[in-house]
Amino acid sequence: MQLVTEDNVTGLAEQRWGTAHDPRLAEIMTALVRHLHDFAREVRLTEDEWMAAISWLNRAGQLSDDKRQEFILASDVLGLSMLVVQMNHRFAAEATPATVLGPFHIAGSPELPFGGDMSDGVPGTPLYISGTVRDLEGKPIAGALLDVWQADPDGAYEAQLDVDEARLRATYLSREDGSYCVHTVGPKGYAIPMDGPVGDLVGRTAISHFRPAHVHFLLSADGFRPLITHLFQEGAQYLDSDVVFGTKAELVVAFTPREPGPTPDGGSCAENWLEARYDFVLQPVSA
Ligand code: BEZ
Ligand code: FE
Repeated sequence: MQLVTEDNVTGLAEQRWGTAHDPRLAEIMTALVRHLHDFAREVRLTEDEWMAAISWLNRAGQLSDDKRQEFILASDVLGLSMLVVQMNHRFAAEATPATVLGPFHIAGSPELPFGGDMSDGVPGTPLYISGTVRDLEGKPIAGALLDVWQADPDGAYEAQLDVDEARLRATYLSREDGSYCVHTVGPKGYAIPMDGPVGDLVGRTAISHFRPAHVHFLLSADGFRPLITHLFQEGAQYLDSDVVFGTKAELVVAFTPREPGPTPDGGSCAENWLEARYDFVLQPVSA
């Protein structure tokens, strides 16, 4: 019979998990066991602390469903999501950088025409975001799909609300010359959900639980790598302390105040509005 001791349990567990049939799973599980055991040794984890962690994980699981993603949130605030993004999207220097997806993307948003209004009655200052979608050589990409979503002025995403219609989310297609135009309302900074186990933990630290004002984009085009990113409002609060580590200098753009008058979609706006210009640069699959 095996004699299990504090010193040999890690090796034994690694050996056992190394038998996973898929070699990649074996690699991941042995490393996970090793790091978990090292972690417990380093902090001299007590049984009470171990039980507190188990209850925390239980609560995160019980709270999660297809709309509430407490584990994604946990990964985000620990900086793990952003690390995984960074490691897996080593884009060319000219390409638009990626950032976190976040827990609130809803697939299948309605398609709107160039300049179509995705705010549809949500109050706020009209915001037009326009520019082009291009490749690394600067050539326009026609027919790129821009999937766009954002929070409302109270910081709530549609996924957090009980609504039937698409709200502050839409898809747009770039035109022949690569141009696109999104019409929405200016986003506001907001707090991540603090009413669950992630919030409990963050609340026991000096961490700011806010994200700077931003609009989410998921771009896809044939022959190019999908790009998950945001545009952040220049000068917004929390740009230096984004709770999910998602901010990047290249993604911060001016939201320039404009007087009533012509808008980038060829129409016009009767009130003061905001204009943002941004050219997305996609990386070919082959690069
Ligand atoms: C978001 O931007 O939607 C988001 C990202 C990570 C955690 C919470 C929200
Ligand atoms: Fe967001």
